[in-house]
Amino acid sequence: MRRPSLAAAAPAFAERVVAWQRRHGRNDLPWQNTRDPYRVWLSEIMLQQTQVATVLPYYERFLRRFGGVTALATASADDVLALWSGLGYYSRARNLHRCAQVVVAEHGGAFPRSSAELMQLPGIGRSTAAAIAAFCFGERVAILDGNVKRVLTRVLGFGGDLADAATERALWAKATALLPERDVARYTQGLMDLGATLCTTRQPACASCPLSGACVAERDGAQASYPVKTRRLVRKQRESAWLWLSWRGSVWLEARPARGIWAGLWSLPEFASSAQLDRLAAAWPGGGEALPSFTHTLTHLDWTLHPTRWTLPARAGVGARADVTAVLPRGRWFALDEALATGLPAPLRRLLEAACPARPTERRPCRAGTRRPGPA
Ligand code: ADE
Repeated sequence: MRRPSLAAAAPAFAERVVAWQRRHGRNDLPWQNTRDPYRVWLSEIMLQQTQVATVLPYYERFLRRFGGVTALATASADDVLALWSGLGYYSRARNLHRCAQVVVAEHGGAFPRSSAELMQLPGIGRSTAAAIAAFCFGERVAILDGNVKRVLTRVLGFGGDLADAATERALWAKATALLPERDVARYTQGLMDLGATLCTTRQPACASCPLSGACVAERDGAQASYPVKTRRLVRKQRESAWLWLSWRGSVWLEARPARGIWAGLWSLPEFASSAQLDRLAAAWPGGGEALPSFTHTLTHLDWTLHPTRWTLPARAGVGARADVTAVLPRGRWFALDEALATGLPAPLRRLLEAACPARPTERRPCRAGTRRPGPA
């Protein structure tokens, strides 16, 4: 016999989620137990596509440096990106900065209190706006991030293709219909917690789930079939050579363009191939060392990078150095310490830190003498 679906009984559904959250959900995260929209907003942006354990140290560091929206709005883009460096998806950091500036310039430094107004701000989508409004202002409004889509499509047996905008809107409508009259904040957190801890993509823990016995996917043993999203990402492959140009412990970095991968971060000059770099470097003073290649995985791209460290002689003067850097993309020299304090792509940070082993916990100055031995 088929058991009744909870979809027809919204109050029962919400009650189970709320009761479970109270006992088993996450209630002591640093962005909880506050209704300060600055703190909640910051956490929600950091938590997009990023797990709680990864976010925690970044969140604490960010709040120590920028205690409120005005401090963030008046910071330099470089400072914001430096604190974001390693979290990935850097458009989030740029939008965060712009959003703070809009809140200060257009809202007198106070976040608007409705999800409809929050959605007008840079970087705040419908689900993030709803989460902030529910947590901080108790608005009765549905969220639908990736985790919650998985929970709801499984429970409801919603097999529509979420790549289709009209179908996604239909799921938003169902999410809204399931909202409880009260306890919206706890209910919202409960759905997030279920998606993150029990109703996971692989091997969901249905036996511990408060919705067990009322979930269509569990009943049908079809958890892996939800959610349906047909438009698969086509992953691309790319190979590039990376030039780590070194002189007396300093590194030449270029500012990445404002759009695209690692937009706005400082990075190493990039070449189509190691052969192209070798041809260019043949006329340079000093010597090169091929470092181990590695593949960096981005959302849509597997990028294999072949770094070469080229060390200019310590005696190379301004003219000799300028001859080399004139053929590189526009950039400037950074002391290693200074480079590590700025916004860098995560793999570059790892590469430089390997040459400066005291980092990042001990912030003692990194001296040229701590370099790995390289060519003269
Ligand atoms: N993911 C998105 N928002 C979250 C929150 N408030 N707590 C835990 N994980 C989350």
